[in-house]
Amino acid sequence: MLIVGTTASRRYRTAIMGLGVAIPEKVVTNHDLARMVDTSHEWIVTRTGIVERRLAADAEAASDYAVVAARRALEKAGVEARELDLIIVATVTPDMPFPSTACLVQHALGAVGAAAFDLQAGCTGFLYALAVADQFIAGGRYSRVLVIGVELLSRITDWTDRNTCVLFGDAAGAAVVGPAEEGIMAVHLGADGSGSHLLYQPAGGSRLPASHRTVERRQHYIHMNGNEVFKFAVKVMTQASLAVIRKAGLSRQDVDLLIPHQANKRIIDASAKRLGLREDQVYVNIDRYGNTSSASVPVALYEAVEGGMVREGDIVLLVAFGAGLTWGSCVLRWGVQ
Ligand code: ACO
Repeated sequence: MLIVGTTASRRYRTAIMGLGVAIPEKVVTNHDLARMVDTSHEWIVTRTGIVERRLAADAEAASDYAVVAARRALEKAGVEARELDLIIVATVTPDMPFPSTACLVQHALGAVGAAAFDLQAGCTGFLYALAVADQFIAGGRYSRVLVIGVELLSRITDWTDRNTCVLFGDAAGAAVVGPAEEGIMAVHLGADGSGSHLLYQPAGGSRLPASHRTVERRQHYIHMNGNEVFKFAVKVMTQASLAVIRKAGLSRQDVDLLIPHQANKRIIDASAKRLGLREDQVYVNIDRYGNTSSASVPVALYEAVEGGMVREGDIVLLVAFGAGLTWGSCVLRWGVQ
């Protein structure tokens, strides 16, 4: 649906019209993991803040969760799937290399004619996708965009590696966005490919296509330098937050609520402290889900909204970092349409 012509004189803000999530039923606790690898509940909680995570069933794929989250977001927004102009799915765990998961979602929803593509920016994926949607909406080109962050990280987690397997979980979060008087005030995105080796899945692409050898070498799993990623995360979460606050013409004191990427409670705490935010101004659910990558920000935002933590007119700050390395942040004024 084209809302203004090429001679558009009016610019819109992009508002989140509805949010939805899909969370797997299966709960895996730290105690469960302690029976699989050499770890303990105490170590995991102290170092990460994670108590349990949710994992998808064997027969399920990313699009199954994306579709459920999308249907719920559409319902909340009061938007029909056939009204959608564009579907963007942020994921590093698509159903398959191609076609895109977004096309599978488009078909399942019956969003006939909507453009659809996947976008990959690690755990920053949802914010990258939201920024792309914002361009289409604010420029007047589209009026209904579905943005999904979905991840089945369990599929690329090495369940014999205690350094990584305690961290991740599966989930999906979706947002329907459209034009409004108030909404996204500023976005800030960045990347530094020199850190690509710090967090990656070595095989399965054109560099190391799948072979017996790559499977034997466990190269289809997440490989991570946890310490380096940790240092990068604390620095960039603060920098990206300050940059977007500045772009929005605001100051730190204007922020009512921070929705950070849920990678590690210590990263969240350090970032919040540097931003001068109180504990009750930061939404945290890592204890229940672990790191769900590109699903983490929309799931946290959904829960904060449903839990009554976000009031009309509030200034909400979203911030994430991820593989790439990438980072992204967004400031929006909530709920005025
Ligand atoms: N249980 C028990 N011991 C463990 C475990 C575990 N699960 N994992 C590591 N250890 C051990 C290490 O082997 C090490 O032992 P050593 O000293 O004998 O060598 C010791 O604990 C300390 O390890 P560190 O890596 O120094 O622990 P740290 O406090 O840095 O915490 C962690 C590790 C949790 C991984 C942290 O570095 C972190 O959170 N990093 C950021 C991770 C992140 O955000 N990743 C983003 C992924 S997003 C994406 O795109 C998928």
